[in-house]
Amino acid sequence: MHHITDRYKRIIDYMRISITDKCNLRCIYCMPKDGIKLFEHSEVLTYEEIVRIVRVAAGLGVKKIRITGGEPLIKRDLPFLISSIKAIEGIEDISLTTNGLLLKQKALQLKEAGLNRINISLDSFRSDRYREITRGGNIADVLDGIREAEMQGLRPIKINMVPIRGINDDEIEDFARATMTSENHIRFIEFMPFGSKDLWSVDRYIGTDEIKQRVSTIAPLEAVKARKSGPARYYKFREARGVIGFISPITHHFCSNCNRLRLTSNGLLRPCLFSDTEIDLKSALRSNSDDSELERLLRLSIEVKPQGHEMEHQRSMTLLKPMSKIGG
Ligand code: 5AD
Ligand code: SF4
Repeated sequence: MHHITDRYKRIIDYMRISITDKCNLRCIYCMPKDGIKLFEHSEVLTYEEIVRIVRVAAGLGVKKIRITGGEPLIKRDLPFLISSIKAIEGIEDISLTTNGLLLKQKALQLKEAGLNRINISLDSFRSDRYREITRGGNIADVLDGIREAEMQGLRPIKINMVPIRGINDDEIEDFARATMTSENHIRFIEFMPFGSKDLWSVDRYIGTDEIKQRVSTIAPLEAVKARKSGPARYYKFREARGVIGFISPITHHFCSNCNRLRLTSNGLLRPCLFSDTEIDLKSALRSNSDDSELERLLRLSIEVKPQGHEMEHQRSMTLLKPMSKIGG
């Protein structure tokens, strides 16, 4: 099998594609209260354009695709995009990150279109708190969505939780305990300084060491053999059905085996989540460039992919663009 590596010998085989910067929620850690200025409709890539990029990327060795947003399930005809991507030679796996609100209606079509897996962002199990964190979300919809996704076999579902001190960190143990009875994975993600200058501060941030320490007061954690994919490190309680993952973008950064590129919904390739370097694919797409030009730009973004970041050592972090603009 052919593959492409960057300057640091990392195999780049994974592309995260944000298909919209719109969202049906306004999570406090993601967006300011009044929302953010959205891309114009005409700036956002069409499905055709996305499929074309994936075809070229697959030719270079990209095998895994994740669809993100904003909230991807608010887009029309998403199953069409998924089946089109799935049909591309070389694409082995397609997954999606969602807040789950619309999953109940959409899980079946997504499964039929060929979606393999989903991640769900859920930061509280309490309906009043969920409403506050998401500025209006109804947790019942998410829970219905999770159930439907389980029924459709989009398993194991990964639930992503971002613990924030003073907001939801008292639920860390509850989330961990959920793995005792549910096979869904629970993954704790370090709170990153994106877009929400009202909220992020060193005091709000909780590192993986502390999260893990709190989880291990419930019962001893056993390491689970690292799967080859992804930045999470996995553990489980002895008798548990589900596993617990820790994603530590700040402290134990996973840069050394970073395998990904990101495509923003307005058609920019972003080699690294933490660097504002972006390579403009959209202009190429819209100026009649041929595939070899797209390939050149893809190769370029792999070439300029930085070795890593030093966020841990910057006590005051510079805020980055909101996740909904980059793709979570
Ligand atoms: N820090 C950590 N995770 C974040 N996400 C969004 N904003 C942040 C942030 N500031 C997560 C969401 C979701 C994924 C898309 O990114 O919770 O799981
Ligand atoms: Fe929407 Fe996800 Fe951002 Fe929440 S974190 S506002 S669900 S894009």
